[in-house]
Amino acid sequence: MENDRSQLVAEKQHAREQWSQDPCGAKYGAKYEFATREFFDEVERHRYEEYAPWMPLVMGFNDFKGKRLLEVGCGMGTDLLQFARGGAICTGFDLTPRSVEISSLHLGLYDMRADFVLGDGERLPFADDSFDVVYSNGVLHHTPNTEQAVRELHRVLRPGGIAKVMLYHRNSLYYWTEIILHRGILRGHFLRGHSPEEIMSRYVEYSEHEARPLVKVYSQKQARTLFKPFAEIETEVEQMIREELRVLRPLVSEKAFRRLRRSAGWNVIITARK
Ligand SMILES: C[S@@+](CC[C@H](N)C(=O)[O-])C[C@H]1O[C@@H](n2cnc3c(N)ncnc32)[C@H](O)[C@@H]1O
Repeated sequence: MENDRSQLVAEKQHAREQWSQDPCGAKYGAKYEFATREFFDEVERHRYEEYAPWMPLVMGFNDFKGKRLLEVGCGMGTDLLQFARGGAICTGFDLTPRSVEISSLHLGLYDMRADFVLGDGERLPFADDSFDVVYSNGVLHHTPNTEQAVRELHRVLRPGGIAKVMLYHRNSLYYWTEIILHRGILRGHFLRGHSPEEIMSRYVEYSEHEARPLVKVYSQKQARTLFKPFAEIETEVEQMIREELRVLRPLVSEKAFRRLRRSAGWNVIITARK
């Protein structure tokens, strides 16, 4: 029991180290001075024009005007800024003090308002039924008790409210080719006794500091099970870049690529209604 508790604390500590040292997405703005408008503009351009052009529509940045929206794990506040621009009444929440600082500065630079709160998504410091929308992108697969974090999202949502959550996808080209085949088998990690979780912890998130954040993956079926406290649940799959096709890249048409991305992409997006 004591061991379990110290393990949990260590995992949260690893998460804080990872995201303090390498704020999520910061490397894409690295040619500009950190936390300037040029820097944030470049992070944003890369995210929505190059890496994940599907995000604005699928995540519904303009769908929540006048709604109380909570983002759990707001990171640098890149998505939160889009919801704020879309007219949502935003609260940014994060485990890492530096994330809260950066995202607060980020929204301020663009004259957008939001409340910011520091804390753990497994124990949200908000009353029941406080929000119309809860959003979390690429966060809950990094926390030890993901089930508990989902119960908390459910608790703080009002009846009829919507949760939109992105988790990493187990049945994806990236997981099976990069983690299992390339790192696990060809690079010999399995022979050295490393589990897929250990491999993901080393390679999935960009780190210049040897941080080892917890990383988990979910199939669409597992994601639906996780969200079973909710009345309605839908899942969809997104996120792939053509480089992942490696030598097959020139052979795959745009249409086939789109189909592959929407079935074997790296992100599973859950939309659930309380
Ligand atoms: C991969 S980054 C994602 C940031 C942002 N959502 C994005 O898409 O750019 C993960 C963020 O979640 C935060 N985080 C990790 N575990 C958390 C937890 N248990 N509760 C709240 N935030 C957490 C980290 O501090 C970090 O800022």
